[in-house]
Amino acid sequence: MAPKHLFVPFVIALSQLPQSTTGREIPDTLRSFYDSIISEKSCSNKLADGFYSTEEGSDNFDYCGDYLDEFDVIYISGKGNALTNMDVDCDGAYNKTTDDGRCGSSTDTQGQTSFQYEFEEYDLGLTDLDANVHPYVVFGNVGDTEGFAEYDPKWDGVEPLSLIAVVCNNKLVYGIWGDYNGDDGDKSLVGEASISLATLCYGDNITGGNGHDEDDVLYIAFVGTDAVPGAQGANWTAGDPEIFEDSIADLGDQLVSRITGSASGVWRQSTVYCATVGAIVAVMLSNFM
Ligand SMILES: *[C@@H]1O[C@H](CO)[C@@H](O)[C@H](O)[C@H]1NC(C)=O
Ligand SMILES: *[C@@H]1O[C@H](CO)[C@@H](O)[C@H](O)[C@H]1NC(C)=O
Ligand SMILES: *[C@@H]1O[C@H](CO)[C@@H](O)[C@H](O)[C@H]1NC(C)=O
Repeated sequence: MAPKHLFVPFVIALSQLPQSTTGREIPDTLRSFYDSIISEKSCSNKLADGFYSTEEGSDNFDYCGDYLDEFDVIYISGKGNALTNMDVDCDGAYNKTTDDGRCGSSTDTQGQTSFQYEFEEYDLGLTDLDANVHPYVVFGNVGDTEGFAEYDPKWDGVEPLSLIAVVCNNKLVYGIWGDYNGDDGDKSLVGEASISLATLCYGDNITGGNGHDEDDVLYIAFVGTDAVPGAQGANWTAGDPEIFEDSIADLGDQLVSRITGSASGVWRQSTVYCATVGAIVAVMLSNFM
């Protein structure tokens, strides 16, 4: 489907010409991390499972800790070659100025985001995150409904309003952990982001009711306080998703560099493969001797 390695920067450069910003290039190590997660078929250290990517689909999705020890990262994965999708969230402060109508009718009641209290403490004169301005990711599932699969990323040391890296549509976009999935629906769903983040990934066709359906989006959360930009570390008042995203780019690059290609986990697949081939050759040789 997607052109790989050498051709990607060229394709992205071309597609960037008509628009001002369409996300950043995926560094090679992150690209091989993405590829290796997809080829791993399933997570071996599930921090929690039983989640759904869609209401109609299976509950084969999990929060994966396979690289928690090595890189201090947590991501959402699915069974087989799946990651998860991107539904669209419009919760948060409602601002007539920043809504271009794609969130649905302006009479829709907008829910507050989960860290509204922490965000107000930043004392920026803003009452809540604005889905049209702040690229945020809905991560973690909390609810009281019986049977609702739960996972709070705080259990593993992820901080509210910390940076989340998103690999979508062959690019890398930086957002903020801004909300939990709640138990307002029937299923414990994963794979959701604010409309501004979804637009950075997929363009203006994204609306409040129309997200990205394929399970090929990688959401990476980073453990620790150094992943939190804080009140001064991001341009929260910019009023523009691209300016906001740029303001956390240095932090994002630094966090993504936690994922190094040399660590054993990334190459687990090829190690298993080599070991298997080695064993077969050994058996064949021993038959000849
Ligand atoms: C956006 O939607 C229009 C009209 O439905 C369609 O023609 C176009 O291909 C879509 N573009 C993308 C990038 O999905
Ligand atoms: C935030 O972005 C706005 C709009 O571009 C700009 O005027 C302002 O100087 C920026 N603030 C900071 C702290 O960078
Ligand atoms: C709404 O957005 C505009 C443009 O970014 C900004 O100037 C204004 O302060 C915002 N209003 C509220 C209530 O956040």
